[in-house]
Amino acid sequence: MANWQKSDWRIKPRVQMPDYTDIDALHQVEAQLASYPPLVFAGEARSLKQKLGAASRGEAFLLQGGDCAESFEQFSADGIRDTFKVMLQMAMVLTYGAKVPVVKVGRMAGQFAKPRSAATETVDGVELPSYRGDIVNELDFTSIARTPDPNKMLKAYTQAAATLNLLRAFSTGGYADVHQVHAWTLGFTESTKAAKYRDMANRISDTLDFMMAAGLDGGSTHSLRTVDFFTSHESLLLEYEEALTRLDSTSGKWLAGSGHMIWIGDRTRQPDGAHVEYASGVLNPIGLKCGPTTTAEDLKILMSKLNPENEDGRLTLIARFGAGSVSEHLPRLIKAVKDEGANVLWSCDPMHGNTIKSATGFKTRPFESVLREVREFFAVHKAEGTVPGGVHFEMTGQDVTECTGGVRAVTEENLSDRYHTACDPRLNASQSLELAFLVAEELSSLRETRTAAAV
Ligand code: PEP
Ligand code: CO
Repeated sequence: MANWQKSDWRIKPRVQMPDYTDIDALHQVEAQLASYPPLVFAGEARSLKQKLGAASRGEAFLLQGGDCAESFEQFSADGIRDTFKVMLQMAMVLTYGAKVPVVKVGRMAGQFAKPRSAATETVDGVELPSYRGDIVNELDFTSIARTPDPNKMLKAYTQAAATLNLLRAFSTGGYADVHQVHAWTLGFTESTKAAKYRDMANRISDTLDFMMAAGLDGGSTHSLRTVDFFTSHESLLLEYEEALTRLDSTSGKWLAGSGHMIWIGDRTRQPDGAHVEYASGVLNPIGLKCGPTTTAEDLKILMSKLNPENEDGRLTLIARFGAGSVSEHLPRLIKAVKDEGANVLWSCDPMHGNTIKSATGFKTRPFESVLREVREFFAVHKAEGTVPGGVHFEMTGQDVTECTGGVRAVTEENLSDRYHTACDPRLNASQSLELAFLVAEELSSLRETRTAAAV
């Protein structure tokens, strides 16, 4: 955008951002971050945009997932490895089931800041600022812990850099072992669903054996040994984003150097607000969460602000309506997109519209609702003749018990066993794979219907 400045968001109304009290410290941190190298490069963001463009046409599929909120305390190589591994397994199931390339994007290396439903929290008559993610303040309910501390941005930058470094190493260093497919469904208990998934895993494994026998396996084939893996996060803490914004000398455009893709949350998508202003000026692929309160009018304005040149792969609309509400909201937004002739990639976030409080007091998501929202998303696109191009979900490679249900059923009583999330409940490894099998099924049945219609 001509004349856009990375600080323009500052004169727009802002929501969901902390009120820093130590302004000198804030300025020092901003200056320091601005002097550091960016975490990603413009060429990578452009390459992701191209892949997302393919997904918007049904020639690829976007798999975007990771923590709700990355945490300083739970930061470990094993955690990164396990999340990465589950993403690769999911991608393998999808590639096999849907016969399309999978674009892998982690909610990683920068997913630290969180929007909250209330600015403050009151416990026993004491009111303190809400926890807004490790990049802002701390979860402990004390005045010191809850005071926003700008220095946490430096720690987040360091953690993001280390995370990205490991992801880059895993992506190209031969870690991604697709031959583990046999083990994926081992813990699934007997059920018709499990049998179906096991059948698909067996077919994938057969294919890999065949490739190995034919000398086409990972040992000799570059494309099986390396993967493209991208990073993304909600662009919420704009002081951090601005400080990492860089001019791309090749194109003369601005790059959000904090991650390959950034998205705008459901609570910060005001067309005249600070967050839309910031995202409008950077060249990265942008995600926009669309919830039940997104109006067709707002969406039209947002599409013209965020993708004025109607570029392919620039804008991903992430639908998060909640199971049972997709058919009420998605068709009217698809119509708005069609009315404008806009190029968008439609992705489904089946997590954020399905959060409930369990009888045992834990915030959870019934896995059945997650799967149901995905099925509804596919059904609407099938009816509208549009492309369901991706999924966006909160998961971890750890064996947590945060969402109820799944083939290895987690019950409300189990939630307390291994409930580790710093924010929203995540799918565990087994639930994530089950989600991938469902999406693969949906994609291949859509493909069969469309192929049949075409002949
Ligand atoms: C999130 O993705 O973690 C999030 C807060 O989502 P939403 O903005 O859709 O509520
Ligand atoms: Co979340």
